[in-house]
This record gives sequence, structure tokens and C-alpha cells, in this order.
Amino acid sequence: MPTVASSALRVPQSRIRELADIAMKMDDVLKLYFGESNIPTPEYIKRAAAKALEEGYTFYTENAGLPALRQDLADYYRRVQDVDLDPRNEIVVTASGVQALNVTIRCVLNPGDEALVLTPAWPNSAANVWMDNAVPKEIPLLLRGDRYAVDFDSLQAAVTPRTRLLVYTSPSNPLGWVATEDEQEELLEFTRRYNLWLLADEVYERLYYRGVEPGIPTPSILRKANRDDAVIVAQSFSKTYCMTGWRIGWLVARRDVGQKATQLNEFIISHPASFVQRAAQTALALGEEELRKMLARLKENRDFCLAALRRMPRVTVPSPDGAFYLFPKIEGVTDSFAFCRKLLEETHVGLAPGVAFGAGGEGSVRICYAAEQGILEQAMERLARFLSQRVV
Ligand SMILES: Cc1ncc(COP(=O)(O)O)c(C=O)c1O
Repeated sequence: MPTVASSALRVPQSRIRELADIAMKMDDVLKLYFGESNIPTPEYIKRAAAKALEEGYTFYTENAGLPALRQDLADYYRRVQDVDLDPRNEIVVTASGVQALNVTIRCVLNPGDEALVLTPAWPNSAANVWMDNAVPKEIPLLLRGDRYAVDFDSLQAAVTPRTRLLVYTSPSNPLGWVATEDEQEELLEFTRRYNLWLLADEVYERLYYRGVEPGIPTPSILRKANRDDAVIVAQSFSKTYCMTGWRIGWLVARRDVGQKATQLNEFIISHPASFVQRAAQTALALGEEELRKMLARLKENRDFCLAALRRMPRVTVPSPDGAFYLFPKIEGVTDSFAFCRKLLEETHVGLAPGVAFGAGGEGSVRICYAAEQGILEQAMERLARFLSQRVV
């Protein structure tokens, strides 16, 4: 009897989804397990999509996406990151951030290759490595005082002749950690030294709370790299513009990967929906004001949850600089899935178990604070009560 391919069988089930599947069968759950805000897509973006449909954006587009959108993305990089890109060869519009990860990882790994993945991390990049018959090696960030840091000694020790790729996410899901410019430089030097591809997941680039003013992005790795470096950036409209369900993102890559990803996309998705690409152009053009409002709200939520968590027994939580997650460690928790399940069943608070995020994640839980304050208040109160009533 034919069987499912071993490369597919090796891809682990998402443990966030496993928890969510239990929660979705229950009523009145405070859902903080997924990585999305409950803010709907702004009206001006919805109107742009409707207008694009009326204008006839219902046909196929180029595999790399509408040239006008790629030009807008190049202008965006010049405006917000002071980086010059060639929109014809170095930018590809994708059907989401995860699709940008999928196609670029396909472009750079051969079966049996190894990829170093900085963890705790959203599981999808490691899963994409597995799907290519390659092997992810997880290298946990180290908690030093109140800040996570890249463990370059462990990275170096993990390099083998099969290593081809290093993947990191900054701002990080689930940590909210943001790579410093020194760390970015060192990561770049490291990958140059060992002849590796460097894939930076920058989908939370704009959700950054340390800028001199709200809306200032985290500096992209593209500022440090030159255009001949083996550097790839995966990006998305999902988080910055509240467009998770629209499935649109982009990638930036050296021209050889840019061109290959364009060609491969013909066989994967061909291109993202035409009218969605038009709406994305509007998001880039008009999104800054809404973004600043959202950032102010997120920062308040972060500070509220941080303060609440720091009052709870056995909880240690570093202060994150970006994204919309907190990743508290709870003393005594050795099975974060069991902990989250119990918390869910007893209090109807849904958190993501730390174990879902790979090495370094067990013993913690991820809280997405992009929900309304009212929901966060109830969730923090129930979590505090839960923790005060039991040993783990
Ligand atoms: C780190 C990271 N990268 C990529 C994505 C993908 O976003 P999307 O596929 O919605 O564009 C997510 C979504 O949660 C994420 O957390």
C-alpha cells in the first residue's frame, strides 16, 4: 500500500493548534493562543480591495506580483529602512509570510542539508525545513538578566559540513526579543564565515516599542547586508496592517533567489490574489496613522500584562521590545502543554504552551496581548488566581 512520504510524516503537529482545537470546542474562552489581534482590517484597505475588484483586478498577475506593488515595496524600504532594492529582481510578492518562508527555504536547501534555527521560535520555519527533507537544528537564545541573547558558541558548535542556512526571527515570536545591531552584524559575519544563507523573519518589523517615536521600525538586516550577501528577508502584511486572513506578504532576497522564487511560485501559488495585491498597495500608502494608533494600544497592553505577571507567584518575565507576545517562565512547570490544558479547562483562559516553540520553550507559556484590555484584564486575573491556588 502506498504510504505518506517520510518528509511529510516527519513534520510535527503544531502544539499551538492542538491546544486551540481543544479550546474551539469550548464556550467563552479568552483566546490568547493565536498570534493575531482582534482588530479588523481597517476600512480603507477593505474599500481598496472592493474597488480593485470593480476595476477588474480579477486576472492573473506576474509570478513576482504586480510590478507597481513591488515598486511600492522598494519605495517603502527606501522610506522606512533607508535601503535601496531592485524591485524587478530582489522583491517577490508572496501569498503570506509563511509562503515567503516556504519558497525561500525550498530555494536554498537540498535534501539532507541542515538549518540552524534560533529558538524559541514560531514552529513554521523548522516545519518548512522538514518538508524539504532537510533537518532543523534548534539553538536556544540565552536569557541573560532581563534580555535574551544569541548564543554564538552553541551556533558555532552546531555547524557541520551539511549546514546551509541560519534562520532567526526578530522581533521574535514568542519572545518579543529584538536582535541588537551588534547581534545582526555578528549573525551576518557568522553566515559569511561558514558560507551559509541567512534568513531573517521580519514580519514584526513595525511592532517595535523602543524606537525614538512610535512607528519607527526595528532596523532590518538589509541595512547591514550588501546586495551580494546570501541574505533573505521574509515579510508579511498580516501583523502591521491587521490582514492575517488576506494571505499576502513578500520576500527580499539576493537576485538569484529572487528570480528562482519567482519561477517556483508559478508551480506553488502562481501569485497572490490580484485584488489583494492592490489592497496591499493601499495599505503601504495609507497605513502609517492606523499603525501608530495600534502601537500605542499594544504598548499599553504589554505594560499592563507585564505588571500583572510580575505580581504573580513563580513567574519570571523579561520585558520584550517588539511583536505582541509575552513569554513568562513559570517555576515548577515541566509540561507546558498539560499546564495550558488545565488552565484552559479550569479557567477558560487559552494560552499557547512554550513547548510549541522548540528548544528553550518548555516551562513557559506564550500570551498574545493583542486582544482588548477587557479580555486581558480577565485573563490576568484568572491566571493569577490559578497560580495562587496550586503548586504548578
Ligand atoms: C514569526 C512569524 N513569521 C511569519 C508569520 C506568518 O504570517 P503570515 O503567514 O500570516 O503572513 C507569523 C505569523 O504568526 C509569525 O509569527
